[in-house]
Amino acid sequence: MNLGIMGFGHIAQAFVKGLLNTDIVGSSDIYITARSSKTRLLAEEIFKVNVCDSNTSLINTCDLIFICLPAKAFYQENVLSTLDLKCKIFISFMAGVKIDQIKEVLGDVDVIRAMPNLGMADNDGVTAYTKTSDQRIIDIFDSLGYAFLIDEKEIEKVTALASCGVGFAAYILSCFDRIAKELGFDDKDKAKIVSNIFRSALKHDDHSSLADAVATKGGATETGIDSLKEAELYEILNKAVLSAYDKMNK
Ligand SMILES: NC(=O)c1ccc[n+]([C@@H]2O[C@H](COP(=O)([O-])OP(=O)(O)OC[C@H]3O[C@@H](n4cnc5c(N)ncnc54)[C@H](OP(=O)(O)O)[C@@H]3O)[C@@H](O)[C@H]2O)c1
Repeated sequence: MNLGIMGFGHIAQAFVKGLLNTDIVGSSDIYITARSSKTRLLAEEIFKVNVCDSNTSLINTCDLIFICLPAKAFYQENVLSTLDLKCKIFISFMAGVKIDQIKEVLGDVDVIRAMPNLGMADNDGVTAYTKTSDQRIIDIFDSLGYAFLIDEKEIEKVTALASCGVGFAAYILSCFDRIAKELGFDDKDKAKIVSNIFRSALKHDDHSSLADAVATKGGATETGIDSLKEAELYEILNKAVLSAYDKMNK
């Protein structure tokens, strides 16, 4: 199988890293495009994948094509509708771009949408995908972590919670990094402590009960959690997820 990837930024590189840990494809089966010579060189030298000089040549070479472009760049690719796209399957990772909008650029082709997150670099991602009968696509997503089928109208919920969510979680971790630094911990202790508190909490499925269990009545944790509730942390996080969701539904 010749697997094409239009764009080779953050999500495409995570995708290729994960794929190369599987036996589904090797680097010689993967073709990518990018805008800059810097990214093309990285693709060739670090990932050892094939680099095409245009999206047109990539599409002519590949049968499964993953769209990992910024939406704006994709909309400029209307020349692609002049190609022979019969027998090609497109899988779009683009957030907020509907199948109908993709078909406005490509014509009436076979299009699937998928929403992955960066966890797929370590085959520990979350990917939701719209209906497909192509087992190759299902096998690819299953190999990259937890994958599930979703209706297209629900997909932006996954984008907001699972894809943007990695960024939200990273931002929260960065706040703890900053707090640990301000308390005077050196970089090594800071990194150990911050990763440990999240790892320890993740070992429990019922996060709310764990919070109650750590918060001994009248103790320091209870005081801290009360302060988080008073500052309306839940409402703040809910607003972050919903604002990401709303942005994609505009
Ligand atoms: N980042 C995530 O966690 C994530 C998660 C789910 C979905 N997505 C979706 O994935 C898409 C890409 O996101 P990203 O974060 O990976 O963006 P990114 O890091 O900015 O990467 C975009 C890539 O597209 C390339 N590019 C731009 N215009 C091009 C063109 N005309 N032809 C060929 N390549 C072109 C860029 O080349 P250069 O490197 O040379 O600039 C870059 O490699 C977006 O639509 C986003 O909604 C992202």
